[in-house]
Amino acid sequence: MTRDNSNKNDWRYRLFDSLSYPTLILDTNKNILDVNLSFHEKFGKRKDVIGKKCHEHFFQSSVPCSSDNCPFHKVIEKKKGQSILMRVIRDGHERWEDRVFTPILDESGEVAYIRESIRDVTQVKTLEKELKGVQNVFEKVVQSSASGIVAADMKGNALLMNRAAEELFGYSFREFVRKKTVRDFYPPGVAQEIMKKLRSDEYGGKGKLTNIKVDIINSKNEKISGEIAAAIIYENGREVATMGIYTDLREKIAVEQKLKETQKRLLQSEKMASIGQLAAGVAHEINNPLTGILFYANMALESRKEDDPIREDLKCIIEDVHRCKGIVKDLLVYSRQTNPTKDIVDLNSIVVKSLSLIHDQKMFGNITIQKKMSGEEIIVNVDKQQINQVIINLVMNAGDAMEGSGTLTLETYCSRDAGKAFLEVTDTGCGIPKENQPHIFDPFFTTKELGKGTGLGLSTVYGIIQESGGDISVKRTDSTGTTFLIELPLYQS
Ligand SMILES: Nc1ncnc2c1ncn2[C@@H]1O[C@H](COP(=O)(O)OP(=O)(O)OP(=O)(O)O)[C@@H](O)[C@H]1O
Ligand SMILES: [Mg+2]
Repeated sequence: MTRDNSNKNDWRYRLFDSLSYPTLILDTNKNILDVNLSFHEKFGKRKDVIGKKCHEHFFQSSVPCSSDNCPFHKVIEKKKGQSILMRVIRDGHERWEDRVFTPILDESGEVAYIRESIRDVTQVKTLEKELKGVQNVFEKVVQSSASGIVAADMKGNALLMNRAAEELFGYSFREFVRKKTVRDFYPPGVAQEIMKKLRSDEYGGKGKLTNIKVDIINSKNEKISGEIAAAIIYENGREVATMGIYTDLREKIAVEQKLKETQKRLLQSEKMASIGQLAAGVAHEINNPLTGILFYANMALESRKEDDPIREDLKCIIEDVHRCKGIVKDLLVYSRQTNPTKDIVDLNSIVVKSLSLIHDQKMFGNITIQKKMSGEEIIVNVDKQQINQVIINLVMNAGDAMEGSGTLTLETYCSRDAGKAFLEVTDTGCGIPKENQPHIFDPFFTTKELGKGTGLGLSTVYGIIQESGGDISVKRTDSTGTTFLIELPLYQS
């Protein structure tokens, strides 16, 4: 049936014209037999189109399109509908068309005609493109974040993992997805704890968790101090995913620790300086009368006969005066009122010499002494006598802490790169209780009974080591013993 004035009101034409998509009817030779109203309005007048081949109309070409680009032949072959998404330039603008080809079969089931309808999907395509652009930006923001970002489904399977997270946890995203779930980021039970907090109102609102400190477990099973902010992602009120932002706190903690150490040292230096001045003044004042007492006590002793009972008392006075003079000497060293004489010496030889001095002491009878001297010479520029005194003070303290039995270890080593020499003095004694640790370098701090310790040993040690450009600290102390660590600058020739 061909369209003319007599049949244009036929319901079949009306039905055809009522289709909202531009539609054409083609025969199997690609001749356009008819087009509907929508086509007529958008793509060309009926009279100009009907009778042409479709490639002539659409591409102004006498050559048919190849079957790779056009599903026309496939429709005939398969007798099934086919579609193709086409990019065309119309009126200078890019348009996207979804062209759907549907076969119309004859009585014997062969393709007699083909219906082609054209759907303009430019808007969908543009939206798709925009969405892709937004996704790209989102991806870039996520990937460039310095914090680790991970999103996971409710079973804990990772959906997204940015580069910082890959670095922090030590897995590539692919590797992680294959082997692990986000629960493996934490020590046992912590993931459940985090989910509980996320679902409660108390940590930033339901579904949210503002920064909390957590231990993170990386691929090498190492514990990393970190911080996490997390959220649950909901869809229609249903939990569908979680996401966490992880921050590595190791560097921050190290800096804080260093700052604390520096503050502590500053405080110690200030304390030492003020008490040092006082001590130096007192020491000078006491030294003169002590010399007088010693002089007269010696004179009195000499003038007494051998069997005079007063002689024993005089000897006690002389002994105690010597003890006092020893304390005064320590005070002067501590307050740095003596002039150190610097020598270029091997630290190992000073240690060996100091140890030979204490060997005969009774208190070391049952103590095993271990020397772990570095194989090479460790040359330092220090006052030999003073370092000797440092070692003896530390060793005596160790001996006291071990109460006569245990192991005393002296170890030396150095780092050429850092330009530092190290000496460690380790005992297997009682350790230093936590509450005493901040005070052990303070002058006159002692836990020993009256008359046994003056509490000047470690403060003198501290003064000497500072004077030598080094540092002293307690490396470890607990109920199994204590290690003091001394650092000295290596001598640079
Ligand atoms: N190796 C150690 N093990 C346990 N505690 C120690 C050790 N070294 C020092 N201490 C503690 O630190 C305190 C201070 O030590 P420091 O050497 O300054 O004084 P002291 O030994 O008490 O007296 P002094 O050394 O003047 O005779 C000690 O009384 C002791 O409590
Ligand atoms: Mg001591």
